[in-house]
Amino acid sequence: MQAKQPVLMSMGLSFGAALAVAIATLALAGANEHGTLLALFLTARVSFVLFWLAYAGSALATLFGPTFQPLKQRGREFGLDFASAHLVHLGLVGWLCWIGAAPGLSVFVFFGIAVVFTYLLALFSIGTLHKALDRRLWWLLRTVGLNFILYAFAKDFYRDPLAQSWKFNLVYLPFFGLCVIGVLLRLVAFLQGLGRRDMTVRAG
Ligand code: HEM
Repeated sequence: MQAKQPVLMSMGLSFGAALAVAIATLALAGANEHGTLLALFLTARVSFVLFWLAYAGSALATLFGPTFQPLKQRGREFGLDFASAHLVHLGLVGWLCWIGAAPGLSVFVFFGIAVVFTYLLALFSIGTLHKALDRRLWWLLRTVGLNFILYAFAKDFYRDPLAQSWKFNLVYLPFFGLCVIGVLLRLVAFLQGLGRRDMTVRAG
């Protein structure tokens, strides 16, 4: 119970931060379609920062050593923080539908899959369910799920930079860049792990 409290607290803080961003945006820009889209734009970025730490933290520790060890150790918490904060984004989607500006079906299908992965991963990171799941199945769920969620973020963050103003690029390009950097970090860390295993087998 002791160990659960910091996790719940950090999930609550993440949810609270995203909620504060959403409420402030709706209050300043209006609870109409424009304000809600702006709140979706901002909450997506709050969620992304938490997701990115969960996605790339472990690879950073593998490649760059003990400085990043705390990120690796908190990987699960960052994932749960992301799942928690992202509830606000989903709430805003509900609000958008309520005010009669629902997104198209294809948005629901594609991002719906990312949502299913988000909460499946959160559910199976809980102690008892996690233990019940076969290790290889967990690895598969994590790998496919995390990469699909990253793909969903990257797809929304990518806009042809040459066709946009520098102001627009400022709020899209860094986020898309982080998606690419995240994939590269995980790939290099994975290959390094394979290389080490290969050396151990040869030495043995
Ligand atoms: C894990 C799941 C999801 C991820 C990763 C995600 C990601 C994002 C991102 C990155 C943005 C910002 C786009 C921008 O800056 O232009 C965004 C906005 C938005 N999202 Fe989500 N989203 C998710 C779930 C959903 C769901 C389920 C829906 C609705 C079915 C949805 C509807 C929207 C809408 C309508 C916007 C505003 C788009 C606009 O400004 O034109 N999202 N989302």
